[in-house]
Amino acid sequence: MSKLKIAIIGCGNIARSAHIPSYRQLPEECEIKYFCDIIKEKADKCVEDYGCGIAIEDYRDAINDPEVDAISVCTHNLMHKQISIEALHAGKHVLCEKPAARIYSEALEMQKAQHETGKVLSIGVVCRFHKAVEEVRRRIQAGELGEVYHVFINFRDHRSIPGLGGEFTTKAVSGGGVLIDWGVHRIDQVMYCLGDPDAVSVSAAAFSKLGCDIENYKYRYMWSEDTRDVNGTYDVDDSVTAMIRTTGPIISLEGAWAQNIEEKDQYLDFIGTEAGIRLNYCGNFKMFSVKDGEFVTEEWETPEHDMYLDEVKAFFHAIKTGEKTRAHIDYAIKTSKIMQGIYDSSDSKKEVIF
Ligand SMILES: NC(=O)c1ccc[n+]([C@@H]2O[C@H](COP(=O)([O-])OP(=O)(O)OC[C@H]3O[C@@H](n4cnc5c(N)ncnc54)[C@H](O)[C@@H]3O)[C@@H](O)[C@H]2O)c1
Repeated sequence: MSKLKIAIIGCGNIARSAHIPSYRQLPEECEIKYFCDIIKEKADKCVEDYGCGIAIEDYRDAINDPEVDAISVCTHNLMHKQISIEALHAGKHVLCEKPAARIYSEALEMQKAQHETGKVLSIGVVCRFHKAVEEVRRRIQAGELGEVYHVFINFRDHRSIPGLGGEFTTKAVSGGGVLIDWGVHRIDQVMYCLGDPDAVSVSAAAFSKLGCDIENYKYRYMWSEDTRDVNGTYDVDDSVTAMIRTTGPIISLEGAWAQNIEEKDQYLDFIGTEAGIRLNYCGNFKMFSVKDGEFVTEEWETPEHDMYLDEVKAFFHAIKTGEKTRAHIDYAIKTSKIMQGIYDSSDSKKEVIF
């Protein structure tokens, strides 16, 4: 098979920190033909920095090029659906950043396009490729925790609103705040560990509080600070609480980009009848049990690896074999459905039953 020709659509932070470096580590398998950004200088800068490719402003120039095999969609969430669907119908394989889309109905349209075209549509729910997550899934599926009946998802930070006033905090562009941005990873990796059960109902509340005073918001570090806009919009959730019933365990979720707590507090607890696991987000985990009348704590250290590279390798494997990646839209769609349920429950102040 000849080398896959790739187009990068959106040359911002995630493209430069994850997608482009991963493709460049696989020179035998692929080459980047286009760098596309509506801000042309960002595409030009990629050509200059990486010494390859052609800079373009219109993604259609890439998806209409018969030489292009696959694209990475690294734009803000508003454009995920449109670019992915057009690319799939143009015969391209798509690796689209998370979340699949702003709202569930858009994600469903993307899934439909994938089913119609048979091309690969993988979503950037990259934690599915983290080695610790893989091992937690293996242990749960092997029954090592007994019956897993309750999972706690906790991802709260003191001050971590990204690009305040910009695309991340403008609902029309992002679809939501901390739930869409961080919660998507946490919910999705729990779903993966649990074997992708179906959601049954959701009861939730989302709050938009600490980012509202854009000018006076105090922070130490800000992801995507270059997109910060003091005259911009802040109409998304900066914290969220939810209880999710599934065909498997109950999931309790607490999340915050910004909350008046002393420091970051993030973990996933998988509670089973035989053992429990506390998984640190993208880190190691500990497993707790009782053996021969003694309390036992096992610490599991994650081997060195690059989950973004593994995500791209899986994408290529799916292109070559037609096998589903573990981040296939058919799996990621379940997380979209839960997130929509959380927002709908918060808006209606009622439980949402699926
Ligand atoms: N997997 C992860 O862990 C992870 C981490 C961060 C961000 N993300 C996701 O990646 C996406 C981008 O986030 P980011 O932090 O890189 O944002 P960013 O603002 O740094 O980059 C987005 C880029 O897309 C460009 N763009 C917008 N519309 C375009 C269009 N129509 N055609 C071409 N380019 C266009 C923008 O000009 C910008 O350069 C978001 O969906 C975000 O949720 C994922």
